[in-house]
Amino acid sequence: MKSIREPKINLFKKSSPLLCKVVKNIKLTPEPGSGKRPKKEGRAEIHRIILALDHTKYPYLIGQSAGIIPPGEDPEKVAKGSENTGYTIRLYSISSPSMGIDMSENTVEFIIKRDYAYDSEGNVTHKGVASNYMCDLKEGEEVVVTGPSGKNFLLPNTDFDGDLFFCATGTGIAPFYGMTIELLEHKLINYTGNIYVIYGAPYSDEIVLREDFDNLSKKYSNFQFITAVSREQKNPVDGGRMYIHHRVTELAEIIKTSFSNQGKMYICGGPKGMEKGVIESLHKILGSNLSYDEFEKDLENKKQLYVETY
Ligand SMILES: Cc1cc2nc3c(=O)[nH]c(=O)nc-3n(C[C@H](O)[C@H](O)[C@H](O)COP(=O)(O)OP(=O)(O)OC[C@H]3O[C@@H](n4cnc5c(N)ncnc54)[C@H](O)[C@@H]3O)c2cc1C
Ligand SMILES: NC(=O)c1ccc[n+]([C@@H]2O[C@H](COP(=O)([O-])OP(=O)(O)OC[C@H]3O[C@@H](n4cnc5c(N)ncnc54)[C@H](OP(=O)(O)O)[C@@H]3O)[C@@H](O)[C@H]2O)c1
Repeated sequence: MKSIREPKINLFKKSSPLLCKVVKNIKLTPEPGSGKRPKKEGRAEIHRIILALDHTKYPYLIGQSAGIIPPGEDPEKVAKGSENTGYTIRLYSISSPSMGIDMSENTVEFIIKRDYAYDSEGNVTHKGVASNYMCDLKEGEEVVVTGPSGKNFLLPNTDFDGDLFFCATGTGIAPFYGMTIELLEHKLINYTGNIYVIYGAPYSDEIVLREDFDNLSKKYSNFQFITAVSREQKNPVDGGRMYIHHRVTELAEIIKTSFSNQGKMYICGGPKGMEKGVIESLHKILGSNLSYDEFEKDLENKKQLYVETY
């Protein structure tokens, strides 16, 4: 029986971080104003950022996150007269499989969206510090990295034949990209179940890595890539926006059978609380008598539900 190693955490801390050079920074979304998103709805800019990283020094597992410390001083801390005025660590889900994208390169990858806050007229009032720093990085520049972080949002670590339902909104797709490649292509464990990626985004051109997922679904009959494009598609319940929980409901019969045989659901992305709709759908599908909270806890205890929302 093949098995994956146990997660290592906090090998690099704020006081002793790792410096990683940028290998590539690729923009995955259209130029602001030229895609499907109307100008008045702000900007959606998502980047794929690849850093050089020695896997023997930083042996991450897919599902873990890395910490990034942006350079400079936090003006709020300066104004308060804090002793340490550096920025706090921001976490980013690792999107490359545990052995790297092609199992030979010493790299780690991220999917990062520029974060902006707007006023009621749509003017930018705050540019997210770490996400804009990361999306602006040029090849060869150095980034301060901590971690790895997280020991729960992980794949099964020995051979597994249950179905996996990966539910993502926005940049929540990051870990599922690496998980899908690891299971189907790298085969670190013998995996014989079916994988369903259910990915929600506002516009079809904000569904990133579509070509990669489409290629995987052509290559593997046990992989399905399902999207919920909220501002382009209508849900069949009330004609409102199409969300990932509507897609989960469409898979009711499959999910029912899968969950009676070790099926697992993973939920990742924002906004915080979006997992509620998915868990409510699952609650209905499985016909549980437990309350929502008990149901969620029960599935988490049974290692059938993993949630990472932010
Ligand atoms: C486990 C985990 C995994 C994550 N994975 C990813 C990932 O894979 N990809 C990804 O893109 N993100 C991810 N995130 C989110 C990421 O950590 C950051 O929270 C995000 O990038 C925003 O950070 P920032 O420094 O750019 O924004 P910040 O500067 O911290 O601002 C964040 C928000 O705070 C408010 N704000 C802060 N200061 C001001 C101000 N002066 N005026 C007005 N509003 C203000 C605004 O609403 C702003 O949008 C993850 C988070 C967690 C916890
Ligand atoms: N960098 C980041 O990604 C980041 C960091 C910190 C916090 N966040 C939080 O996460 C939110 C979305 O992040 P994002 O920009 O990465 O994603 P995004 O590209 O806007 O995609 C999120 C998708 O989820 C949908 N959605 C909204 N509420 C939902 C719900 N309750 N249940 C199911 N689906 C829901 C959205 O639909 P509609 O929008 O069309 O309704 C959209 O299709 C942000 O508004 C922010 O609060 C994100």
